[in-house]
Amino acid sequence: MEKFDNNQELGVNKDCEKVNFSSLDELRQAVLNLDFHLKKTARHTVFSDGDPNSDVMIIGEAPGQDEDEQGKPFVGQSGKLLNAILSSVGLRRNEVYISNIVFWRPPGNRTPSAEEIAFCMPYVEQHIKLAHPKVILLLGGVAVKSILNTSESISRLRGYCNTYLNIPVIATFHPAYLLRSPCQKALAFRDFILLKKTLSA
Ligand code: URA
Repeated sequence: MEKFDNNQELGVNKDCEKVNFSSLDELRQAVLNLDFHLKKTARHTVFSDGDPNSDVMIIGEAPGQDEDEQGKPFVGQSGKLLNAILSSVGLRRNEVYISNIVFWRPPGNRTPSAEEIAFCMPYVEQHIKLAHPKVILLLGGVAVKSILNTSESISRLRGYCNTYLNIPVIATFHPAYLLRSPCQKALAFRDFILLKKTLSA
């Protein structure tokens, strides 16, 4: 990995010249030690939840209020819906590994900025490499655009398999969007079926 190009005004990482973390614990500690402006307004750094040895890694956008309070991703209303969709395809939440693109709640749950995403991305890449899942499931536009480095909409990218670091990637709607637009749940369900099929391929 190249030396991180972090904006001094946004925050600095004391470990920014470190190229590789040898374990998830080491990476988690480095993320906890980051100095970043979002950390000043957040209660917790939200790193991950679930089974780090899982074949499935799920990546969302950024913690919301409940996640910030509890220090775990997807524990609020979106998390409840995620758990329900997982269970509808025979996957339990504790069998998957869950994280986000951004490790801190943006104030007021706003969408993370391009700079905030760029700051976190080297750690997200390391996170994926260390977790080395068999399949990645991306929830929502921010995760999809950040990982697949595209400006294509989620509606165009969902429904089939992409790849990242040679790992199959499935994109689907964010559960928060599904809560607002329940008629899209059928399409999301198809994406979770595709996830299951890709897992057993
Ligand atoms: N939305 C996300 O993208 N991530 C969470 O952890 C919670 C809500």
